[in-house]
Amino acid sequence: MMQRGDPDSLSPPSMDYVRLTMTLDPLSEETYDAILFPQGCTIENWQGKETAHTWENLVKTAFGAFVADWTAERFIESYASHADQFDPKGFFLIKKKNEFIASAFAWLPTSKADSGQVHWVCVLPQYQRQGIGKNVVKLVLRHHALKNRCKKAHLVTESFRTNAIAMYEKMGFKINKF
Ligand SMILES: CC(C)(COP(=O)(O)OP(=O)(O)OC[C@H]1O[C@@H](n2cnc3c(N)ncnc32)[C@H](O)[C@@H]1OP(=O)(O)O)[C@@H](O)C(=O)NCCC(=O)NCCS
Repeated sequence: MMQRGDPDSLSPPSMDYVRLTMTLDPLSEETYDAILFPQGCTIENWQGKETAHTWENLVKTAFGAFVADWTAERFIESYASHADQFDPKGFFLIKKKNEFIASAFAWLPTSKADSGQVHWVCVLPQYQRQGIGKNVVKLVLRHHALKNRCKKAHLVTESFRTNAIAMYEKMGFKINKF
């Protein structure tokens, strides 16, 4: 069931929601071309433990209570320490002036996967609706296509994230049927 009210509220909805997987097939050049961020934005990749702390602060602001139990240490243990599935060059932070404002990263469910996962997409609330979300997803798609030679991409989201789902659908992702 979809949540009523603010669809992308930061806290988990009180009503039930379901986890959805979405697939982009094929992962073609048109799905990740023309990457363009607002003026003044720069892109940074993973640089180690310090980046994990930046990531933690960013996701806690963007996702709120939903990610309360995610820490820098948990990120490293769950993702960054898996060298066959996590590539520092497939991790993206978007910075404007001295502030980190958005992030997403490429994850390979297995080292031989032909579908690359787009993981932990977020943009700080005050920077949303400027095309930053779409373009950070494109960075991940380009990495999966060119570096991991993936033919498809997928992601996992929650049914109450209607803004995110609208963005992914606009980019060509389709919700997988159960
Ligand atoms: C989902 C999220 C990443 C979108 O980031 P964003 O920078 O605002 O997205 P964009 O500006 O690139 O928007 C792309 C498209 O998504 C849709 N969209 C995004 N936000 C929307 C909103 N508030 N209302 C309606 N449509 C929206 C629109 O179709 C939009 O295209 P348009 O602006 O040309 O109409 C951002 O809202 C966010 O971080 N939310 C909280 C964390 C989250 O839910 N992450 C997704 C986890 S799966």
